[in-house]
Amino acid sequence: MTTRVGASWHRTISSETAATPTRVVVAGRPVLVHVVEGTPYAVADSCLHRGLSLEGGRCVDGVITCPEHWWRYDLRTGEHLGTPGEYLPTYPARLAEDGVIEVEVEDAAPTVSLRETLLAHARAGRAGQGAVTEGTA
Ligand code: FES
Repeated sequence: MTTRVGASWHRTISSETAATPTRVVVAGRPVLVHVVEGTPYAVADSCLHRGLSLEGGRCVDGVITCPEHWWRYDLRTGEHLGTPGEYLPTYPARLAEDGVIEVEVEDAAPTVSLRETLLAHARAGRAGQGAVTEGTA
């Protein structure tokens, strides 16, 4: 399986642990990892209703019920059952040889904004051109 540009594979939990849908944090993102019929799946762990965690919800055959207000999702696709076209974000997942589930997640956004980066480069460029003296002509 290839890695998407701007994303990386991250090791999470064992497939035994993920037999129960389990919340992990991957690259700063809450992800719910679960194994359905031997295949690992990963979705964003944020209910579309109010953003609460789905962990602890009742799960039968890959369909989890949010423990708060009972919205239901198919963890294989992220589909919100009963509302066509609504999906939880999903992430590629795979099983490593040692039984650990790996999840591919977009790399974390840089902590410095593009504006700050450009300003830093501009300042560094000016510094390299020599000092600007005020009040001289
Ligand atoms: S927070 Fe999930 S159904 Fe309300």
